[in-house]
Amino acid sequence: MCGIVGYIGHKKAYPILVKGLQRLEYRGYDSAGVALISDGGHLNVYKAKGKVADLEAYCEDKDTTGCAGIAHTRWATHGEPSSTNAHPHYSASGRLALIHNGIIENYLTLKEKLISFGIPFKSVTDTEVLVQLIEHVMLSNSLTLLEAVQVALHQVIGAYAIAILDREHPDGIVCARQSSPLVVGLGADGDFYLASDASPIAEYTDTVAYLNDGDIAVLQLGQELKVVNIDNEAQHPKVKQIDVTLGQLEKGGYPFFMLKEIFEQPACLRDCMRGRINVDADRITLSAVIDYRECLVSARRIVIVACGTSWHAGLIGKQLIESLCRIPVEVEYASEFRYRDPVIYPDDVVIAISQSGETADTLAAIELARQAGAFVFGVCNAIGASIPRQTQTGVYIHVGPEIGVASTKAFTGQVTVLSMLALCIAHERGTIRDDQYREMVRELTLIPAKMEEALLRNEQIERLAPIFTYARNCLYLGRGYNYPVALEGALKLKEISYIHAEGYPAAEMKHGPIALIDSEMPVFVIATRDHLYDKVISNIQEVRARGGRITAIVTEGDTQIQKFADHIIVLPDTFECFQPLIASIPLQLLAYHIAVCKGKDVDRPRNLAKSVTVE
Ligand code: G6P
Repeated sequence: MCGIVGYIGHKKAYPILVKGLQRLEYRGYDSAGVALISDGGHLNVYKAKGKVADLEAYCEDKDTTGCAGIAHTRWATHGEPSSTNAHPHYSASGRLALIHNGIIENYLTLKEKLISFGIPFKSVTDTEVLVQLIEHVMLSNSLTLLEAVQVALHQVIGAYAIAILDREHPDGIVCARQSSPLVVGLGADGDFYLASDASPIAEYTDTVAYLNDGDIAVLQLGQELKVVNIDNEAQHPKVKQIDVTLGQLEKGGYPFFMLKEIFEQPACLRDCMRGRINVDADRITLSAVIDYRECLVSARRIVIVACGTSWHAGLIGKQLIESLCRIPVEVEYASEFRYRDPVIYPDDVVIAISQSGETADTLAAIELARQAGAFVFGVCNAIGASIPRQTQTGVYIHVGPEIGVASTKAFTGQVTVLSMLALCIAHERGTIRDDQYREMVRELTLIPAKMEEALLRNEQIERLAPIFTYARNCLYLGRGYNYPVALEGALKLKEISYIHAEGYPAAEMKHGPIALIDSEMPVFVIATRDHLYDKVISNIQEVRARGGRITAIVTEGDTQIQKFADHIIVLPDTFECFQPLIASIPLQLLAYHIAVCKGKDVDRPRNLAKSVTVE
């Protein structure tokens, strides 16, 4: 989704902005642009359709001097991807340039009004309306830029993170946020950095201020960060130290971030469990469960809200919580939940799961749950993002920044946190025996090592991948805990290889998808040893009988399935409820290698965005 970068300081802005845009490339975008106040005092705006590299090529022979600038990657909402619709947008007089993430809902009404004043428009975007509105109120009332922004935002309905440059004041940037994230980095030498998440800032400073909804910040060279609201009341966003190393933001020798992130999972899960599971590996401590024990233990019902891969993690969480804690759990797509007028009880616990912590639908679902008086718990990766700030408490998954658009380590991190949460609540509720609890905690700590074993299958999977590149459709089957694994495996393949794939509960297949099966149809079956193993074997035979080509994910020591399958991928054994953590690995690798074989841009699949900040 759209990305914002800004810089004002003593260094040349252009290289910092371009590098920042590259760091945000993972969010997904279709065009990019930059505005700079040049050494000669001009406000230059350069824009290009396509990738940041296209923008760089366009700028090669342009004046890129200046120490103040803003830059943007756009993911089209209003108007096709084009250099005209790309940001920054100039104001009518050319004095201001503005970039924007979000959607201005009443932009058409505002635009009609501005057109009636004779203000011309070049693009069809909602963003251009903002810059024209701000300049109009500024010039017609002789206001400062800050005052004009305050007046203009009073008229705006929607979501925004904006940053504005004013040619007449080259030593300042004004920015504002409402429902769309914005982070200000405070450089040691008085320089300011600005971005839609901390990743473009991390290499310059570890001191950041996360703006809150309604904040308007003035980054004025030689002055302290000033933050006010639209009524000019002083605001005090928290200044935090961030802990993101450069290595976490770079590929570290892997050809794609996705492969790096797949291989990072054992280390990530160790990080996720560190400090939460004790050294004797027999006790889990989650401060959120200690602090809010009563709400969690006495929950009448748990509702999980999430989107995409996080929703799949939620389906695994449901099984964990129901079987260990004996609390009924519903798993909802946040986008459906928010508009369905759902029944929410004050003694419900709503768990919002989100890697980015910025997904617009999940944030709206949280707001709805809060209004209904439910206790809202967040499971998030991005530190300081909106979801952790808008939930009463929660647990970070601590897997580090995930750059590949197709989520991998965040998924297994979410499942790990949900496993720890379910075990903690079950222990507190007394729905699990003490010896069983200890045994499960111990097994959870062994998962990273078992993942390492599963990753040894990489070469085998790389060799298998070319077989599947011809496929137009694939079916993924699993039961119980492995049903969400099948859904997630199919989603991974769709996202990055553009092969249509469906995940299905293996037994349900005979009520429809079985009609699709023929010798052209690859069928991936997760058939690890669990209490449904024999049933899954019957399902495999049903596929086999119709000529389907089976690749089965099995547990080491399995001797049965190889009789029916074309290919088997062998995984280490673990407890049934932790199997998704291991079984996801070969499916991530399979999707990755198939996409690479097809020559796809694995980290930046077409049309997708990493952080979906619009509904
Ligand atoms: C997008 C991403 C997915 C992600 C989903 C939910 O669609 O491409 O990878 O699962 O958003 O995002 P969240 O940040 O809330 O987990």
